Amino acid sequence: MSVAITGVISCKKIEESAVEDEEIEAYLSEEATLKRAMKRTSMDTRRLAKALESKDWIEIETWANELKQGIGVSCVNLYIKTHPGVSAEFIILGDRFYNATNRLIISCKKRDTEIADAQFAKMMKSCEMCHDGYKKQDNDSSDE
Ligand code: HEC
Repeated sequence: MSVAITGVISCKKIEESAVEDEEIEAYLSEEATLKRAMKRTSMDTRRLAKALESKDWIEIETWANELKQGIGVSCVNLYIKTHPGVSAEFIILGDRFYNATNRLIISCKKRDTEIADAQFAKMMKSCEMCHDGYKKQDNDSSDE
């Protein structure tokens, strides 16, 4: 892993403040998008938990895939975009989540709820691990 991402933005300098304003606005709206995306994907988590309860393997795979793409790819990329110079640790945590969902999807082939449940628990753990370090505490008053 490298820290190469750090400092890319600084090369741009302050050339035109108008452009900067636009960029800031884009960042802010992307931040709102990230929140919305996270909220939407957390609904997928509930759907996945329900599918696990009813041992609906097609549904389990479907929602696990949604989460893998939604959080593991889209949300992580959005966060990296809106937080220039984000630490390598964040990228590793994102990777870990992606791999955890992948393992859950692969474990579905065994049609074994115990294995799938264990993988699900590991995936949820990796949500927590990332939130512990990167989710702002001051704005989760609603605690969802
Ligand atoms: C790699 C890091 C990472 C992973 C993995 C991750 N999240 Fe997040 N999540 C974040 C960050 C960062 C925020 C804060 C976004 C903000 O407030 O700008 C967040 C915010 C949230 C929010 C709050 C949205 C709001 O309204 O403020 C929910 C709900 C959420 N995540 C659910 C989940 C669930 C469920 C999982 C796992 C299935 C998960 N997240 C995995 C980084 C992550």
